[in-house]
Amino acid sequence: MERRGRLAGKVALITGVAKQDGIGFATAQVFVDEEVAGLAVVDIADAVHACPARLGAHCTSHTADLTSAADVQRVVDEALAAHGRIDVLVNNAGMVVFGQDEDFAAFQDLSERQWDFGIAINLKSQFLVTRAVVPQMIARGYGRIVNVSSATGPVVANPQESVYCAAKAGVLGMTRGLALDVAGHGITANAVGPGWVATGSQAEGEDVGGANTPLKRSARPDEIGRLICFLASDDASYITGQLVVIDGGNTIQEYKGPSELYY
Ligand SMILES: NC(=O)c1ccc[n+]([C@@H]2O[C@H](COP(=O)([O-])OP(=O)(O)OC[C@H]3O[C@@H](n4cnc5c(N)ncnc54)[C@H](O)[C@@H]3O)[C@@H](O)[C@H]2O)c1
Repeated sequence: MERRGRLAGKVALITGVAKQDGIGFATAQVFVDEEVAGLAVVDIADAVHACPARLGAHCTSHTADLTSAADVQRVVDEALAAHGRIDVLVNNAGMVVFGQDEDFAAFQDLSERQWDFGIAINLKSQFLVTRAVVPQMIARGYGRIVNVSSATGPVVANPQESVYCAAKAGVLGMTRGLALDVAGHGITANAVGPGWVATGSQAEGEDVGGANTPLKRSARPDEIGRLICFLASDDASYITGQLVVIDGGNTIQEYKGPSELYY
C-alpha cells in the first residue's frame, strides 16, 4: 500500500518562515514532504513571499506583525479565506525580527522597553495567533497546536537572556493551560524545546555549545521540523500539554566541559 504523508488532507499555518535557513522554513518543507494539503506561512518580513515559489502552489504567504492583535486577526482571516480552515498551527516566530540582531542584556541592565519587546515577540505573539485560530478549530472539533519554546527558559538558562528565558518558560505554561481548555474539543497543544540549532543566525559560540552536547553537534533545522510534524500529526493524538526537549541530550549531562578533560 502506498504510504500517505503524515499531514495529508491537513491545512497548516506556520509563523516565522521568512528565513530559508531557519526552523520555520525547514518545518514548512517537512510539512510539504508530508503532503500537507494547504499551507499559509506568515512573517513580519516581506522575504516570506519567496516561500510559495519554493514550497508549491498550495502555499500562500502573508505578512503581519504578530505582536499586534489587529494584524494577527487580519492575517488569520486571510489564511482562512485562502484555505478554508486551519487544522494545524505552528507558533514558531520569535527570538529575533528578520534583519535585526538579538538584544542581549544582563538582568540588572534590562530596560522596561527590552522586557516588553522580548515578551511581546516570544510570548504575546503566540497567545494572539492561537486565540485567533482556535475558535474555528473548536467549531470543527479538531486541531493540532505546536508552540516553539526552547530548552532555554523552561529547562536551562543562558547569561543575558532573562527576558527570553521568561518568555519561553511562559510559552510552556501557556501551552499547558491551553491544552486543558481545548482538550474537550479534539485539539492538542504541545511545545517543543530545541537546544542548539544550526540555523543561519547561529553564532560561533553557539556552534561550540552544539559540539559539546552528547551528540557532538547542533541540530539541523529539519530535525526540529520533523518533531513539530510528529506532534502536528495524528500519530501524536494522545500527547497534549507536553514540552518535548530536542537538544542532543545536552540538558541531561551533568558535566558540560570538553569531553577529553573528563572521560
Ligand atoms: N535557533 C535556535 O538555536 C533556537 C533554539 C531554541 C528555540 N528556537 C526558537 O525557534 C524559533 C525560530 O527560530 P530560528 O532560529 O529559526 O530564527 P529565525 O530568525 O530564522 O526565525 C524567526 C522568525 O520570526 C520572525 N518574527 C519575529 N518577530 C515577529 C513578529 N513580531 N511578527 C512576525 N514575525 C516575527 C522573524 O522575522 C524571523 O523570520 C524561535 O521561536 C526561537 O526562539 C531557536
